[in-house]
Amino acid sequence: MGYVGPAEAAPILVDGLQRLEYRGYDSAGIAVHDGTVVAIRKAEGKLGRLVAMLDEHTPAGSTGIGHTRWATHGPPTDFNAHPHTDPAGDIAVVHNGIIENFLPLKERLGESGASFASDTDTEVLAHLIAEEYDGDLKEAVRRAVGRAQGAYALVAMSRKEPGRIVAVRMISPLIVGLGDGETFLASDIPAILHRTRSILVIENGEMVDVTPDGVTIETLDGAAVEREPLEISWNAEQAEKGGYPHFMIKEIFEQPDVITETLSGRISGTSEVVLDGVAFPDGFVEGLDKIWITACGTAYHAGLVGKEIFERKLRIPVDVVYAHELRYRDPIIRPGSLTIAISQSGETADTLAAAELARSRGSRLLAITNVVGSTLSRISDDVLYTRAGPEIAVASTKAYLAMLIGEYLLTVAMGRARGRYTPAESADMITGLRHLPQAAEEILEGAADIAELAEAFDGAEDVYFLGRGVDYAVAMEGSLKMKEISYIHSEAMPAGELKHGTLALVTRGTPVVTVLTQGDVYDKTVSALQEVKARGAHTIAVAYADDADAHKHADRVIRIPRVPDLLSPVLSAIPLQLLAYHVADARGHDIDQPRNLAKSVTVE
Ligand code: G6P
Repeated sequence: MGYVGPAEAAPILVDGLQRLEYRGYDSAGIAVHDGTVVAIRKAEGKLGRLVAMLDEHTPAGSTGIGHTRWATHGPPTDFNAHPHTDPAGDIAVVHNGIIENFLPLKERLGESGASFASDTDTEVLAHLIAEEYDGDLKEAVRRAVGRAQGAYALVAMSRKEPGRIVAVRMISPLIVGLGDGETFLASDIPAILHRTRSILVIENGEMVDVTPDGVTIETLDGAAVEREPLEISWNAEQAEKGGYPHFMIKEIFEQPDVITETLSGRISGTSEVVLDGVAFPDGFVEGLDKIWITACGTAYHAGLVGKEIFERKLRIPVDVVYAHELRYRDPIIRPGSLTIAISQSGETADTLAAAELARSRGSRLLAITNVVGSTLSRISDDVLYTRAGPEIAVASTKAYLAMLIGEYLLTVAMGRARGRYTPAESADMITGLRHLPQAAEEILEGAADIAELAEAFDGAEDVYFLGRGVDYAVAMEGSLKMKEISYIHSEAMPAGELKHGTLALVTRGTPVVTVLTQGDVYDKTVSALQEVKARGAHTIAVAYADDADAHKHADRVIRIPRVPDLLSPVLSAIPLQLLAYHVADARGHDIDQPRNLAKSVTVE
């Protein structure tokens, strides 16, 4: 966060940091300039600790910078919290991302007698800027950045230049909010949306100079940049809790609306899909013979569902590869292929790097992302926005469902182009998609029953999720939800694989959740369910409402409305989200901000 204006900076910075806490929350700090001195307050732990410190004494001043940290270099401690300064305290810096050559830089600075107060790479930047400083902060930052390598964003201020902040974007996101006689800097738009809707998105390799007279942007090479501000139409209230105890449960309950939103305006007549932002060249889809999908975390699981539906419906081979794996392979990505990069934030560093790699090999790049103007959206040839609204809980729910909807829409659009859907078939699919909001609503009406099932997880140390085909992809997501917020060890596996090892871990009372929706492999999945039951597992199945047999195989059955099998992931994921939520809640965990995690991982 950064602020230059007429108001007191500290409350504005802290308020922005509260909205940015999802990016990291293991320590936080601010630096405020009162025209004479720069006061720094920082504390390990969640933002509340900093706020308590500020309650005792809030530094005065109307220029400031602030940061919430997700540790990369050095443990979360008071010392390692940002802002960092040079030894004289002249330059204060906050930064996201990583300075990859920080060690040689630090050693060199050490040889010249510098001493360091933290383990961070950030502090090295403060030293470099101070070393380069000769009265002009912008030029000092420019020269210092020329010596640093990595993917990062930084914001700096100088004790000698009150009322000025200089920021740089090197890959990690940075935006500027234009207020009435005041300017805000932040790593994303929701942090300042309640203050201004007029936003400048800073591009890679650009620097921003903020003074009371206004904002100038230039490239690191010194070329002036003219940029029109974006006017943001979405609502800051969408990012508030709205009466729910946690953002996660609020976001789970928003899902029927999110499905509707993501479909809205994209269906033409009864059988056609029209995707704004996706414009394949003539003949591209018809000739397409390979799709790559790359993503991380929940978005990767959405990609696994995508593979099932694209291969079945389009008959195009699909590889789904974790972005952090793809970027360091030498993948056989050929010109003319399509790479789909999926990312809620559009800022995940690994996903961006994998997407760039695919593009550099001549693949067409399509982004499925939730954040308008995100880096991923701007480097992609085509963008399918998911319209889930701001997702705040670290554990992704509504963005996942919206990603699935995006994939179905893409399947119909591409399937029509490839002649794999007749108008009647695509009309059926569209009817199915249109039914999903109502079906999701029905599941949510039964949420209280799912909350009761959480008892089965009392004292559990291991949980397993089973499924086949798309049910396996959903099991992966259910398992991730469970482990990230309940901290119970959880694994998902294809139902048929269980007997090849993991069955050895199933003992009396082990909870095993089986997703049981796919008619073509129903009996096969039931066999696996029976195998765990025979070993004393506590079995829970997710099955269609009209499945008359499920209760014969599982101790407890969670019912979802009947839909065509291929669409079931949109529904079967919801009870698994609720289950994870209630298990974590019963354990008293911090659901929206689970330990060690961050909403958006903008470092490698
Ligand atoms: C982090 C989050 C996950 C998310 C993943 C990918 O690990 O904790 O919830 O799925 O990043 O994020 P993206 O923004 O690329 O979808």
